[in-house]
Amino acid sequence: MARYRGSETLTSDGTVDPSLQQTIDALAVPGLLIGHRVISQGDELALLYEERESFSFPTIERRRASGAARRVARDLMNSMGVADLPILRSKFGAPLWPARVVGSMAHDNRIAVAAVGLRRDFDAVGIDIEPAVPLPSDMLELIATSQEQRAIADNQLGAKLLFAAKEAAYKAAYPLDHEFLDFHDIEVDLASRLATTRTGHTLALHWYISSHVLAVATVQKTSMDHLSSS
Ligand SMILES: CC(C)(COP(=O)(O)OP(=O)(O)OC[C@H]1O[C@@H](n2cnc3c(N)ncnc32)[C@H](O)[C@@H]1OP(=O)(O)O)[C@@H](O)C(=O)NCCC(=O)NCCS
Repeated sequence: MARYRGSETLTSDGTVDPSLQQTIDALAVPGLLIGHRVISQGDELALLYEERESFSFPTIERRRASGAARRVARDLMNSMGVADLPILRSKFGAPLWPARVVGSMAHDNRIAVAAVGLRRDFDAVGIDIEPAVPLPSDMLELIATSQEQRAIADNQLGAKLLFAAKEAAYKAAYPLDHEFLDFHDIEVDLASRLATTRTGHTLALHWYISSHVLAVATVQKTSMDHLSSS
């Protein structure tokens, strides 16, 4: 299990991708714990009974990826003092977190990642991970507005970054109002590191590119929120 707080590696059992570890260390979003795991045989067994009963994934690879992401998420939650609880899925796939927690998960064929924080600190969190290879050029218009296309001109991985940033923003925004968003419903401003949704949410973006493009979107509570909830 790979588990990180800022630049500190807490434990390792051989399921760490060193390059990705550096990426996560570099990201360091205050108040947010981010972890990863190389998806491994047997990770499907990390799904808790309630998760196994309610998920209907067709393949063992899909169950394995979800199990790996939940291993990472539960380990991060443990380090925040939250016990091993099931992370079920809503009808539309969104993870259902324990009451005090806000978080997000993602997986590709090889890597599972999770980001978790306290609801006290964040209204919303989204994460996405993609291999750091260019997006096929015929997908550019599908995912990027003309303004975004101008902003990433000459950047080989720019489109992939936009893709990951929008997926992270969608995962953060969806639980707030359960609105489906298309790629063009989210405008990403890489220069100011913000994403704005058609539904009126503004999210801070954090990303790092190494072997992977790792993108995180957050809506942080303001000090006024703390005052009104205390
Ligand atoms: C949410 C979505 C973007 C995930 O993308 P993906 O490439 O399939 O998968 P990822 O590995 O990146 O992420 C999977 C995780 O996202 C999370 N997730 C799924 N649906 C979600 C939603 N509606 N809201 C928040 N998180 C969600 C789950 O934790 C899931 O992992 P799990 O099934 O093991 O629990 C995709 O499933 C989806 O719903 N797409 C429709 C909307 C869309 O694509 N709009 C364009 C982008 S803005």
